[in-house]
Amino acid sequence: MNLSEETLQKIDAVIPKYPEKRSAALMVIHLVQDELGAVDLDACAWIANRLELEPINIQELITFYPMLRETPWGKKHIRVCRTLPCALRGSYGTCKTLEDKLGVKEGHVREDGEYSLEFMECLADCGEGPVVMVDEETYENIDAEKVDKFADLLLEDKLNGSKGFKSYEKALLVESKIPAKSKITSKK
Ligand code: FES
Repeated sequence: MNLSEETLQKIDAVIPKYPEKRSAALMVIHLVQDELGAVDLDACAWIANRLELEPINIQELITFYPMLRETPWGKKHIRVCRTLPCALRGSYGTCKTLEDKLGVKEGHVREDGEYSLEFMECLADCGEGPVVMVDEETYENIDAEKVDKFADLLLEDKLNGSKGFKSYEKALLVESKIPAKSKITSKK
């Protein structure tokens, strides 16, 4: 297994932050998955060795947590929330439309590896459902009216920067921009 120098440095830096090496397991798994897209058996063995554990200790974490993977998702990974608040606002239909338009069944990776789709539990934005995530960006209110356009932009790779669909994270960045410091003039 080959990891970049940057990831190796991050791993070296994170382990000493925990009282015991084994406590850093989830952080190390995330760092490896961020780079490789998944944590396969080789990666499990490498992490276990680094943390002085057995590979099974790492595998049991990967098979327990849904966001950890033994095989990679597609180049673009789309998550749709299926928990009640989003379901009541139509997330089952949203997921079905995305399946049809992207050509991939939920829980799978499209044959060409471009897209994968996951219909999963709460994405922590329950008041603005149906919630859809594209990689790490969260899009709100992707209901029956909007999902077709959303899927088209996704397929054209134009979602990023589109006026109609700004991700929660991008909106937050714009809102949090601090205005330039106003000039302070001394009073006489
Ligand atoms: S119920 Fe959909 S984000 Fe929580």
